[in-house]
Amino acid sequence: MCGIVGYLGFRKAYPIVIKGLQRLEYRGYDSAGVVLTNDNELNLYKTKGKVSDLKKIAETQNIDGNLALGHTRWATHGIPNDANSHPHVSNSGNLVIVHNGIIENYNSLKKELIKRGYSFDSDTDTEILINLIEEFKKTNNCKLGKAVQLALKSVIGAYAIAVYDRTKSDEIIVARLGSPIAIGVGEDNKEFFVASDASPFIEYTKDAVYLEDEELAIIKLGKDLRVRKIKDDSFVEPNINELQLNLDQIEKGGYDHFMLKEIHEQPNAILDTYRGRLLADRGLIKMGSVDNNITKFLNANRIIIVACGTSWHAGLVGEYLFEDLARIPVEVEYASEFRYRNPIINKNDVVIAISQSGETADTLAAVKLAKEKGAFVFGICNVVGSSIARETNSGAYTHAGPEIGVASTKAFTTQITILSLIALKLGNLRGELSNSTYQKYLHEMVLIPSKIEQLLKIDSKIKEIASIYKDVSNFLYLGRGYNFPVALEGALKLKEISYIHAEGYPAAEMKHGPIALIDESMPVVVIATNRGHYDKVVSNIQEIKARKGKIIAIVTKGDTIVKEIADHVIEIPQASESLYPLLTTIPLQLLSYYIAVMRGCNVDQPRNLAKSVTVE
Ligand code: G6P
Repeated sequence: MCGIVGYLGFRKAYPIVIKGLQRLEYRGYDSAGVVLTNDNELNLYKTKGKVSDLKKIAETQNIDGNLALGHTRWATHGIPNDANSHPHVSNSGNLVIVHNGIIENYNSLKKELIKRGYSFDSDTDTEILINLIEEFKKTNNCKLGKAVQLALKSVIGAYAIAVYDRTKSDEIIVARLGSPIAIGVGEDNKEFFVASDASPFIEYTKDAVYLEDEELAIIKLGKDLRVRKIKDDSFVEPNINELQLNLDQIEKGGYDHFMLKEIHEQPNAILDTYRGRLLADRGLIKMGSVDNNITKFLNANRIIIVACGTSWHAGLVGEYLFEDLARIPVEVEYASEFRYRNPIINKNDVVIAISQSGETADTLAAVKLAKEKGAFVFGICNVVGSSIARETNSGAYTHAGPEIGVASTKAFTTQITILSLIALKLGNLRGELSNSTYQKYLHEMVLIPSKIEQLLKIDSKIKEIASIYKDVSNFLYLGRGYNFPVALEGALKLKEISYIHAEGYPAAEMKHGPIALIDESMPVVVIATNRGHYDKVVSNIQEIKARKGKIIAIVTKGDTIVKEIADHVIEIPQASESLYPLLTTIPLQLLSYYIAVMRGCNVDQPRNLAKSVTVE
């Protein structure tokens, strides 16, 4: 986590770095800082709080200079306070660093440095790293790049760092292990940008180099970028990618919050996920990455899905899809558990890693482990060129566009869209779905974006429900079958952004515990669509009503039974059971959004969370 931005070139560095930090606040917002160099001076400003707080401090001071590094922090070592904010400066006052990641052996390194006379102002692992670099530079009398390389060889942990020496203001050293870093290369090497993702520099250059793990880049003004392997010092030819991202995609476009914008983008996002893949008129699903590996998918003994957070919930929907439509056994694993329990993986297992950011540390580690054990690993990512996308054997992008709101919305529905396409395709090829059923599904999928459009119009109804329940302390979400993971996701959305305690349960499990919580002040969201286990869900609703709980029911248009008993009803369009998650999710996203707004919460940047979790 944490966001890094750097600039070296002919423009004023401060506005570029500050704007870039604001775009990266999704990575953490516990504290922020910037260091600028002008005529070999260092001007350092940092503070607990957001980038907007930093601006207030910095803009009354000297912010000149064409070289700067900035940082927005998600605290790991040391509480969020001014001293622990980045950038950090070495004891000599010459070297500065911004860091995203964790140095695990910081304690032993610190002891060694203290013995050699170093002192520390913060509780961070990063201040240790910059002084370690300084110590290597001094004892080896070497250039900064070499000193960074030597220091990183003695470090255990994860990092994306940018470092410079105030006495050599035409150079920045950048390195990566486990945490992402992109370098933007300006025309004729007259300027360079460094950032945790490319969004801070898209208006200046489309040429970006993404460092690989254990690579170190030497950025020198007017010179070609040089990249070396940290381990053996060998040179690597930098791979310059052309960025597809544009500015409109990362701005709010008239919405109050990114989350609301992203909720409303879902019809188009799903169309983008379909593009070139769902060819209903030709009766086809075409997915190069699946087609090219079709025997692996068709011969799979089982599919193991690994993910975290919302992506894990999409994985659970995937379990229902693959088992129901393609009759392939599926296990869905939290990546953080999977990676540490020596899982049994066979050559004929297909592992699917799902990740919006493509950078989640646990999911990335799970991918590496599965590959080591010989499985074929397929990635479903949103961020193009991300670490998981590059590490997997093959994969499909969701093409949802940048998701900035910390609470994931369009990433979830587009992940489910990809899983549905793959499951339908495999179901048909394995003979589990007849051609006519398969065709029916394809045509139905085409209609999903317009059904979501319809659902987005019920805003006012959802606002009314939100205003009634905005002050409660607890919520329960229930669903069965395909709608069970949606219940989990609905509860997660609510707790993430409104801080109301919420739990998702399979409707029938309610009897084994949560029912004890139900009284007249407990709202229960029940997803009661007309297919699957409708009658059973109706019984569950009766059980809640008998205990005076308040029912907010998500029902299918035309429902009469639940309407009679529920306190509030939200109608969704008819669909096949396996496609309901794409629809039932929408009102739950809106309900959390409006409750959070009415409670005055920071919807796009909820406390303690970060969008991209690059630490374990
Ligand atoms: C964080 C985010 C969640 C996200 C999870 C997994 O916790 O706040 O919204 O679902 O990470 O992220 P990924 O990028 O791997 O989907």
